Amino acid sequence: MKTQKFLYLSKSDVEKVDLPMAEIIDTLDQAFIQKGHGEIEMPPKPGIHTAPDAFIHAMPAYIPSLGAAGIKWVSGYPENYKKSLPYINGLLILNDPATGMVLSVMDCVWITAMRTGAATAVAAKYLANLDSKTIGILGCGVQGRTNLKALKIIIPGLNNCIIYDIYEKAAIKYSEDMQEETGLQIKIAKSPKEVVENSEVIVTAGPILKEPNPVIEGNWLKPGVFASPVDFDSYFKKSSFLNCDKFVTDDTSQCLYYKSLGYFKHIPEIYADLGEIAAGIKPGRKSRDEKIMCANLGLAMDDVAVAIKIYKRAKAGNIGKWLEL
Ligand SMILES: NC(=O)c1ccc[n+]([C@@H]2O[C@H](COP(=O)([O-])OP(=O)(O)OC[C@H]3O[C@@H](n4cnc5c(N)ncnc54)[C@H](O)[C@@H]3O)[C@@H](O)[C@H]2O)c1
Repeated sequence: MKTQKFLYLSKSDVEKVDLPMAEIIDTLDQAFIQKGHGEIEMPPKPGIHTAPDAFIHAMPAYIPSLGAAGIKWVSGYPENYKKSLPYINGLLILNDPATGMVLSVMDCVWITAMRTGAATAVAAKYLANLDSKTIGILGCGVQGRTNLKALKIIIPGLNNCIIYDIYEKAAIKYSEDMQEETGLQIKIAKSPKEVVENSEVIVTAGPILKEPNPVIEGNWLKPGVFASPVDFDSYFKKSSFLNCDKFVTDDTSQCLYYKSLGYFKHIPEIYADLGEIAAGIKPGRKSRDEKIMCANLGLAMDDVAVAIKIYKRAKAGNIGKWLEL
C-alpha cells in the first residue's frame, strides 16, 4: 500500500488562503438551504467541560453536495486572556467521503471567526430589514469584527455602528480598526442601552456564561430589529426574548439540547430553523416592524463547508505542508 499523505494547514496557512467573506456567506447560504431539505448529516455536538464556562466540542458534518466530510475539535476558554492565550482554539480534520482517508488537518480559529459572522449574515438576509442603516455591536472582540464585516456585505447601506465593550480599550481599538476596514462611522456608546435603543441590527458577542447576568430589556428593542445573540443568552433578558415576534435558530435540536444543559432558559417557542427559512419552507420576515432574533449556535456544517473550500484553494496554490499519516 502506498504511503498516505494529508495537507497540514497552520493558522497562517489558512489565513494565507484568504477565502473572501462574500464567498463564505454564499457557501453557508447554500448549506442552510440543503439543511432545510434534510440533505446534511450533522449530529448535535458532544462536548467535555473541564473548567467553569469552558468547553471542548466535537463537531462532525457531512455535506454531500460539496463532497465534504469532517470534524472540528474546538475549545473555548473564557479565562484564557489572563494567560495571554486566545479564547477559541482547535483543529479541523477533513476526510475523503469516498474512502474516509484524511485529506487535511487545519487550524480552525480563522474558520470559526469567519463562518460565525457569515452565519449571522445568512440569517440577516432572510430576517433583517435589508435597508437598515444602523448596527449595534456589544462585545468588541473577534466575533464583533467578523459579524460586522459579514453584515456590511448583506446590508451594504449600513452606515452607522454603535459599539459597547466593558473594556474601553477594546472598544477604542475596534472603532479604529473597523472604521478603516468597513468605512462605517463608529461611535462608542456609554451603555448597552444606548446601543440597543439606537440599532436596527444588533449583535451581542461577549463571553457565553452558563449563569449569565443579562442586561438588555425587551422594551429597548426597536420595531423591525434583527438581533443575533452570538453569545447565546448572556446579554438578552427574558423580556427581550419574549418581546420578539419570531425566534429562529440555526438548529432546533441543538438549541433544545443547550436548553437542557441550562442555557436559553427564557427563549420563546422556536418559530423555525434557519435552514427551513433559507429553503423557503417557512417564511422569514413578513413585515417591517417584526422584531426577530436568530440564535446561531454554530454548526459543524458551517465549518466543514468552509474547510473544503480552503483545502482546495490551498492545494491548488501550494500552501501548507504534506505530512505522512
Ligand atoms: N455562536 C457561535 O457560533 C459562536 C462561535 C464562536 C464564538 N462564539 C461566542 O462569541 C463570543 C465572542 O467570542 P470572541 O472570539 O469574539 O471573543 P473575544 O474574547 O475576542 O471577544 C469578547 C469581547 O467581549 C468583551 N466583553 C467581555 N465581557 C463583556 C461584557 N459583559 N459586555 C461587553 N463586552 C464584554 C471583551 O472585552 C472582548 O472584547 C463568545 O461568547 C464565544 O463563545 C459563538
